[in-house]
Amino acid sequence: MPARQRTGIFRKTFLLAFLLMVVIILFFATLTIPRQRKTILKSMEAQANAISSSIAQVCADAIATQDYPFLVEHNLKMLQGNPSILYVIVAYQNGFSLVLTQNRWEQRETLDARWEIETTEVVAGKILYSDLVRQKVFHYAFPLRYSFVSWGHLYLGLSLHDFNNAITSMYVIMLLLSLACLFIGVFGAYLFAKTLTHPILALREATNQLARGDLTVRARIMTRDEIEELATAFNQMAENLEKTTVSKDFVRNILETMTESLVVTTATGRIRMVNQATLQLLGYTEAELLDQPLHLLFTGEDPLLKDAWIDNLGQYGDKYNHERMLRSKTGVAIPVLFSAAVMYRDDQVQGIVCVALDIRQRKIAEEQLQQAYQDLKETQGQLIQTAKLASIGELAAGVAHELNQPLMVIRTAIQFLTRSLQKQRIGLQEVIEHLEPVERNTKRMMNIIDHLRAFSRQSQTPFAAINVNQVLDDAFLMIGEQLRLRNITVVKHFTPDLPTVSGDANRLEQVFLNLITNSRDAITAAPHANGTLNITTRVSESQTHVEIVIQDTGGGIPSEYLDKIFDPFFTTKEVGQGTGLGLSISYGIIKEHQGEIQVMETGSEGTTFVIRLPVESD
Ligand SMILES: Nc1ncnc2c1ncn2[C@@H]1O[C@H](COP(=O)(O)OP(=O)(O)O)[C@@H](O)[C@H]1O
Ligand SMILES: [Mg+2]
Repeated sequence: MPARQRTGIFRKTFLLAFLLMVVIILFFATLTIPRQRKTILKSMEAQANAISSSIAQVCADAIATQDYPFLVEHNLKMLQGNPSILYVIVAYQNGFSLVLTQNRWEQRETLDARWEIETTEVVAGKILYSDLVRQKVFHYAFPLRYSFVSWGHLYLGLSLHDFNNAITSMYVIMLLLSLACLFIGVFGAYLFAKTLTHPILALREATNQLARGDLTVRARIMTRDEIEELATAFNQMAENLEKTTVSKDFVRNILETMTESLVVTTATGRIRMVNQATLQLLGYTEAELLDQPLHLLFTGEDPLLKDAWIDNLGQYGDKYNHERMLRSKTGVAIPVLFSAAVMYRDDQVQGIVCVALDIRQRKIAEEQLQQAYQDLKETQGQLIQTAKLASIGELAAGVAHELNQPLMVIRTAIQFLTRSLQKQRIGLQEVIEHLEPVERNTKRMMNIIDHLRAFSRQSQTPFAAINVNQVLDDAFLMIGEQLRLRNITVVKHFTPDLPTVSGDANRLEQVFLNLITNSRDAITAAPHANGTLNITTRVSESQTHVEIVIQDTGGGIPSEYLDKIFDPFFTTKEVGQGTGLGLSISYGIIKEHQGEIQVMETGSEGTTFVIRLPVESD
């Protein structure tokens, strides 16, 4: 198509210029040829006139006197001396005439009507066929007038040889001139067409290139006219386009470089475009996917991808972003993060743009993380149990003491009763009275043993409403005796009617035991061994938390250890004395209860720990 059009505009211009040339040449030819002809005829006429005048002059007397021999002789001589004169006729008014040709002469009584020329006054000639000489001649009539008397006419026949030659050479010259003009004209028209159409064609070529998508094209035209202005405007337009338009190639390149899979469907949900990443992920060729329904790519059924998928997509606000399973060509399920969005154009659904990110690696990592977390939880559970057992071992001695006292009471009562019964000096009422402390202390021992058993149980119980004061009391049930033995004064500032917290009593008791044991160790290690342990329970100012403050008069925690004490296995105690797990496990348990544990202050005066647990909301 371009080639045809190119010749079109060039040919048009060329033909136009050429035709114009031909018209001009023809115009000049038609104007020039008759003039030339006339000029030649005029010169012939002048020649005939000169000859006629001379004859009329020389023969004036002979004509008047009708001296025919002289007339014949003179004119024959003249005819012979001048071959271009073909005949001379001397015609008298009455019709008598002398007719002389090159080689003969005759007399005639009447005159040939054709010889007369429509004038008597004006000298005139015309071209006619002459029977006399059997050829075309320039026939000239000259009136013979002497002293205002008309005697007749002198007719001359001049040869057309020179005239024809002149006409021919005129035509030849005209032809040559025309050819020269034509040649120059063709060349000129070509040059004209070329210079005129070249910049237009160049501009058109640039426009075509731009239309094909090459936005870098510029028209280089320097004609200093409107076409150059047009080219400048075109270049400006191309530049703006280049700046504002993202070319198809560029977009294609981006899509192919994407690591995510991209699938674009038509408004009816058929695959319209896929990128390389999709083909690689699913193992299809492009041809296998194009025009297929989108749900070919998925495993299982999905309301989103069934017939009413666009409506369903509307439920997601035109966007869908979920983990989904794609199905490869070989049927392998591939987990992806799949997002889809409806593509609109002028409020019309154009299709759906889907991007899928392969998350197989992430899934594996997640599973490994899950496993690691599970392992860690198990290990932590074991650790807690180990720590608990360790503290139970430690507690055993204290519990032994704890049990010792009621046992002593029971034994004393039984000894007294035995002795009194042996002596039969005791009444029933008295026996009952003495059995009462036995009963009470047995109960207390059972309490302690029960609690020890419960505490050492591994299982976690579901969270329940808990009175923190009660849990603390339970903790002292096991450790109180140990503190007494070490001369540690325990001062309890329990707020009565404390709001309950939601939690696991067993685990919270473990926390309290850990903190109390740490205080016990700190006080025992301090130079002035007699210490005090203050335990306070209260409601926080904001009424949202229950606070448990455990304050001792031990040696405090060196500041460089402060950020380490909650680390697992961090201990300053000798091997066998401490595991370094107490605070780390306590921290974990308090976090599980949505609470917090903090060292409020520490120094040579002692250490204060605060635990905050959220009040159970109803
Ligand atoms: N009340 C306290 N007074 C002084 N130091 C303490 C106190 N509580 C904890 N610590 C320090 O924190 C460390 C870690 O305590 P913990 O985690 O219970 O392990 P362990 O008691 O087995 O050493 C202790 O070794 C001790 O140095
Ligand atoms: Mg400890």
